[in-house]
Amino acid sequence: MSATAILANGRVLRYSFHERLVHWLAGFSYVYLLLTGLAFWSPWLFWIAVVLGGPTASRELHPWVGLIFVFATLLMYRMWSRQMHETESDKEFWRALGHYVRNEDELVPSADRFNAGQKLLFWGFLWCGILLLLSGLILWFPHLIPWSLRYLRYIAVIVHPAAALLTIGLFIIHVYMGTAMERGAFGSVIRGDVSTGWAKRYHRVWYEHLLRDAAARK
Ligand code: HEM
Repeated sequence: MSATAILANGRVLRYSFHERLVHWLAGFSYVYLLLTGLAFWSPWLFWIAVVLGGPTASRELHPWVGLIFVFATLLMYRMWSRQMHETESDKEFWRALGHYVRNEDELVPSADRFNAGQKLLFWGFLWCGILLLLSGLILWFPHLIPWSLRYLRYIAVIVHPAAALLTIGLFIIHVYMGTAMERGAFGSVIRGDVSTGWAKRYHRVWYEHLLRDAAARK
């Protein structure tokens, strides 16, 4: 599905249009779920539901937008799961985490198209998405749960906000890394491309692979 390549203008295509579309379907639906979910979670934040069109609209739309988010996450699974499996170099990355935190880039193993942290985020969102879907369905249709299985409702009440809180942690790190920490990354999910300097600095193994592909095609 992914179509990364060195472009004629020398820049590097990191995300195809399809990949960006799926990413933003997940991004926008997640932000809506986050805001309405926080409004339902705490009376202090209920005003968010009022701002977003009123409590009734928020309560009606939240589960439907949840389905859109899960759908987008599954499309991401189809696009990227094969590139998200942990490799030896990812294990080395976790061992070298101290160097990464201290910005000692030369001591951190080079990353392929996705680095170890991005893979963790991907699987975290996927598994939390599945938990949110299962617990969300129970909360959406509680009257369909037989009395003898009522413990499922009690579990769902705990699992739904717990999984949501985990995604909030992932989301904050993801947005910080993608917008403030790795300059140039945000453009890759908007325009699709990055500079060669960016590709070499953050994903050298991937960049060298693209160079070899381009040379083989000549
Ligand atoms: C709404 C705010 C969001 C912003 C500003 C944002 C930003 C970004 C950026 C800049 C990248 C490219 C990173 C790179 O290639 O180095 C990216 C990739 C990605 N995004 Fe987001 N994103 C957002 C929401 C989400 C959500 C809600 C999800 C969860 C499904 C998500 C999942 C991913 C994944 C799996 C990737 C590819 C791997 C990675 O970079 O982690 N994003 N995003």
